Amino acid sequence: MLLGINALNHDASVCLVNGSEIKFAGHAERYSRRKNDRDLHHKLLNDCCNYGTPTKLVWFEKPFSKAMRRWYAGETPIFQNPKNYLREHGLGNLPITYVPHHAAHAAMGFYTSNFPDAAVIVVDAIGEWDTTTVWSADSTGLKCVFKNTYPNSMGLFYSAATQAIGLKPNEEEYILMGMAAFGKPTYTQLLKDRFFKVWDGPRSKLKHNLHRGMKQWLTVQTEDHANFAASVQQIFEEYLFSLCAYAQVRIPSKNLIIVGGSALNCATNGRIDQLKVFDRIWIPPNPGDAGLSLGSIAYHTKQPINFEHAYLGYNIRKHVDINSVIDYLNQNQVIAVANGRAEFGPRALGNRSILADPRGPDVKDRVNAVKKRELFRPFAPIILAEHADEYFELNHNCYDYMQFAVKCRRPDLFPAIVHVDGTSRVQTVNKDSPSIIRPILEAWYEKTGCPMLLNTSMNIKGEPLVNDEWDARQFSSLNKIPVF
Ligand SMILES: [Fe+2]
Repeated sequence: MLLGINALNHDASVCLVNGSEIKFAGHAERYSRRKNDRDLHHKLLNDCCNYGTPTKLVWFEKPFSKAMRRWYAGETPIFQNPKNYLREHGLGNLPITYVPHHAAHAAMGFYTSNFPDAAVIVVDAIGEWDTTTVWSADSTGLKCVFKNTYPNSMGLFYSAATQAIGLKPNEEEYILMGMAAFGKPTYTQLLKDRFFKVWDGPRSKLKHNLHRGMKQWLTVQTEDHANFAASVQQIFEEYLFSLCAYAQVRIPSKNLIIVGGSALNCATNGRIDQLKVFDRIWIPPNPGDAGLSLGSIAYHTKQPINFEHAYLGYNIRKHVDINSVIDYLNQNQVIAVANGRAEFGPRALGNRSILADPRGPDVKDRVNAVKKRELFRPFAPIILAEHADEYFELNHNCYDYMQFAVKCRRPDLFPAIVHVDGTSRVQTVNKDSPSIIRPILEAWYEKTGCPMLLNTSMNIKGEPLVNDEWDARQFSSLNKIPVF
């Protein structure tokens, strides 16, 4: 029984795997209630160990290699010993293996994909040194065919741009992405000239180290948020497209996997989906560093992992009265569902979700009154998989985890779940889904003829997702909405 660990980084998480079966996977922030928490939490470890006793630990990166990079970057402390840290958490007596950061990302993607072979693209801010890698994957394993290294990092460029317009880096990149659709990429060339020594697809090199931000080198009007965001997003997309083209030429596979924190950019993923260059694309629900607790095990065992769904965390066991849920929704009420096992990944997929009827013009304002988030951002649709093609332009990929922004065929009917560019971050729900959301959607369809609901995460802006029963009760009483 292997325990994979991501900690002392950001978004600490653990994952317990027995053979090819994931027994538990959860995030520290859900327990500590501190967003992006870097530390393991005793309740997280207790919950995890209820599913089995680990016999070996796998750590998500190579500590000495990371220490060298931190020394080079002038960061302190240079080195934190994972063994000492794990001893403090009662895990000091277990053998430990360290795996490379980007290899763990790539393994997480490939060994959960069900693909016999694939091109794997990893883009994040920084691993130990790697910032972009491309891998050829097949039954013989993973082979790195390309890498770009610190400080040349598209992830750091995007995070620095996020910070430049007053948002939180490493957390609010998704807001910049959403804002981009409102602007025009008027600063693209200026940003390329300013920040790139070499602009040459995968081999692009930065002029400056953007680890601590870009403002000192920035002369464009960052108050012009929408156009600035559109320009940053365009540069990011060009870079990702160039990686896809590189992978297509270098790797003899028609399957593509995208992982690393940058794989959460669903607007870019949607455009790659539209290109139809690859037959199939797989983006796991937790492609960023929080998913490395699973990725480290995948790399260590080099065996396929049976990944059927993302409901792998804390279990809220209770009966949900589905008729009552449908009655509330049918009366135009906003409700929440906290039931079953918490999602592994940043998005609520029906087990810790706020739900509403997606039809009509005023839904967005009513849900925003609860969520207290930016008014320009749309919510996501959650839909019975067998009806998804009627409402959205889909290819043959897995849309179960909200990883692609796709064209909505009926934006007139569902303005709350459609972005200004006509896309929706759709989540499909299959017949074999273990989530309570499947019977809720079925009952909603039977009652109304509409196969979809509005879905947004059960949290307030800036807070972690609800985890347990106590969090759910707090959420209900503070926001005055019924929780099932
Ligand atoms: Fe990473």
